[in-house]
Amino acid sequence: MSDQRKLFITSALPYANGALHLGHMLEHTQSDIWARVNRALGRQVRYLCAEDTHGAPIMLRAEKEGVTPEEFVATTRKEHWEILQGFNISYDHYHTTHSPENEAMVAKIYNKLKDNGHIDTKVVEQLFDPEKQMFLADRFVKGECPKCGTPDQYGDNCENCAATYNATDVINPRSVISGATPIIKESLHYFVNLKNFEGMLKDWMEKGALQDQVINKLKEWFEMGLQSWDISRDAPYFGFKIPGTDDKYFYVWLDAPVGYLGCLQYVCDQNGEDINDWIAPDANTEMVHFVGKDILYFHSLFWPAMLHGSELKVPDSVFVHGFVTVNGKKMSKTRGTFINASTYLKHFKPDYLRYYYAAKLSDKIVDLDLNLEDFVTKVNSDLVGKIVNIASRCAGFIHKKFDGKLSDELHNPELYQQFIDNSDEIAQLFIQRQYSKAIKLIMTLADNANQYISDMAPWQGIKDEDKQLEVHQVCSTGINLFRVLISWLSPVVPETASKAAAFLNTDLSDWHAINKPLLNHAVNKFKPLITRIEMKTVEAMMEDSKEDLKSIEESPVITGPLADDPISDEISFDDFAKIDLRIAKIVDAQHVKGADKLLQLTLDLGGLTKNVFAGIKSAYQPEDLIGKNTVMVANLAPRKMRFGLSEGMVLAAGPGGKDLYILEPNQGAEPGMRVK
Ligand code: MSP
Ligand code: ZN
Repeated sequence: MSDQRKLFITSALPYANGALHLGHMLEHTQSDIWARVNRALGRQVRYLCAEDTHGAPIMLRAEKEGVTPEEFVATTRKEHWEILQGFNISYDHYHTTHSPENEAMVAKIYNKLKDNGHIDTKVVEQLFDPEKQMFLADRFVKGECPKCGTPDQYGDNCENCAATYNATDVINPRSVISGATPIIKESLHYFVNLKNFEGMLKDWMEKGALQDQVINKLKEWFEMGLQSWDISRDAPYFGFKIPGTDDKYFYVWLDAPVGYLGCLQYVCDQNGEDINDWIAPDANTEMVHFVGKDILYFHSLFWPAMLHGSELKVPDSVFVHGFVTVNGKKMSKTRGTFINASTYLKHFKPDYLRYYYAAKLSDKIVDLDLNLEDFVTKVNSDLVGKIVNIASRCAGFIHKKFDGKLSDELHNPELYQQFIDNSDEIAQLFIQRQYSKAIKLIMTLADNANQYISDMAPWQGIKDEDKQLEVHQVCSTGINLFRVLISWLSPVVPETASKAAAFLNTDLSDWHAINKPLLNHAVNKFKPLITRIEMKTVEAMMEDSKEDLKSIEESPVITGPLADDPISDEISFDDFAKIDLRIAKIVDAQHVKGADKLLQLTLDLGGLTKNVFAGIKSAYQPEDLIGKNTVMVANLAPRKMRFGLSEGMVLAAGPGGKDLYILEPNQGAEPGMRVK
């Protein structure tokens, strides 16, 4: 049965410049549950996401890691997609914004905006790094706050006095990238004239299904007056070139939301569908975006304006959620409350977290606290203690005494009907994103089911020859109630539900199917569907998270000009004296698959062998290095890099490229000798 609705559902595109953490997983879980519920109701769903790949930080990060930006984002996309699948997030496709589909879509939208008179150009003054030869975004500038003089503040706001300002007003500015003093330089920028869309945005706000808090924000922004939006960045930049220019690129925030459509285009191409059936202004579809509160601005002003200005359908809903906190604190690396999604998966099955988030999510923009003790208690008492318990209390008898077959009739059809009578309300609560209320209702019904089984006490009846039929029917009722509950929960705990489906020998994916109980139906042997979790596993996960943090600042050995790294804080002579420089013999040198700047060196320190990744590929062939002596920092803590563990640093210097020289002490020097 289908109600014919067609939905196009997205989550915000994870930025390629960072690991997925449990904050991200809130959003993917929230949207995944929603997509799955819509599917269970028979609606046609395209649930899509992609890697957000462009921008200066990614360009610089790739450079630092010695790979091309394309390689870098291809790797992170693969890693992110694996993690999302690990959490059973059911995207129909996980694309990338660095794709031909997206580039074509961006050009199409831009050209339409231009033809419709929404693009302006203006010369702007911006800070420019004369050494790195690039314009500097605010976060790449540091200096003294123009209001209060606090040193070391970013180019847009002061942490001390909270003032906001232009980077050009910062006192004694320096480039975070090279340390050079920036100069002011002019450049032609492209803008979307947001003012043209004020009327349209107000209409959209009034009829769009937006949360009250979003509407209030929009009203504030209207009151402050809509500003033109700067959509261009100068080369060098990793992104799409603006058509008709030589060295101007689209700002990442222009092509990122278009990435939703780039992904849809890809999927349509695969299925032989016309994308216009989804995104034409009159298309009979619903476009729904799940996003966090920090990116509301982009999704509720720029994005609908861009779509409208390029004659496409505007979003039907932008669903905004709050932020995850851990044990009441902001997720932060320094507070030790930062948990990577991959670390979680090493210790726990996805369903536990999915359930916990669902049990706490509402349709409001409020932060959600992941309290780790509460997490353990709640999943144990609800999933194991209430839901699975129903099945495990009844399944044994069905198997041992009744040939693994459910009875022809239920013992208590009224109770079954009472459950089914809640179907619409539960579906409604999920669709309204009131997940916590839906879960509460399901758990109340689970309590009723457990109470029923306790009252009927089949373990008593089974001893009585006359009561066999009753016991069969009671246990069959229990199993049928379990089936209803786990069907409703299947969007939340898909892994557990799929095990339940195997036990029940039925498909749980269609919610309409539960209207009829399973009678005279063979079930399979019951195996535990989900096990209790313990606080000590949580503790192990938190320990592991600390380890992650140590390796998080992956950065390779000296590569290219020293200026590529921000100037660090001063060190004392004592600090300097701690550096242990040793003669090292290069006993092996190899190319590193996937890295265009790194070589892998095996260094002999006189009996001790170290593995080091060195960014010297532009200057040396591996075969030319083998047998040479060089100098290494021998007491540097090992660092986990994308390609493996690097256990030190080789000293090399030069302006970069071909002009890069490793230190080559006398070939007679003895490996392991201290260097003065
Ligand atoms: N790349 C942009 C989105 C582009 S969409 C066209 C971006 N990426 S992000 O990786 O920084 O964030 C992705 C999503 O995760 C955002 O919706 C963001 O709000 C959400 N979250 C990031 N940290 C979060 C928490 N701690 N808690 C909940 N959601 C969080 O923004
Ligand atoms: Zn200040």
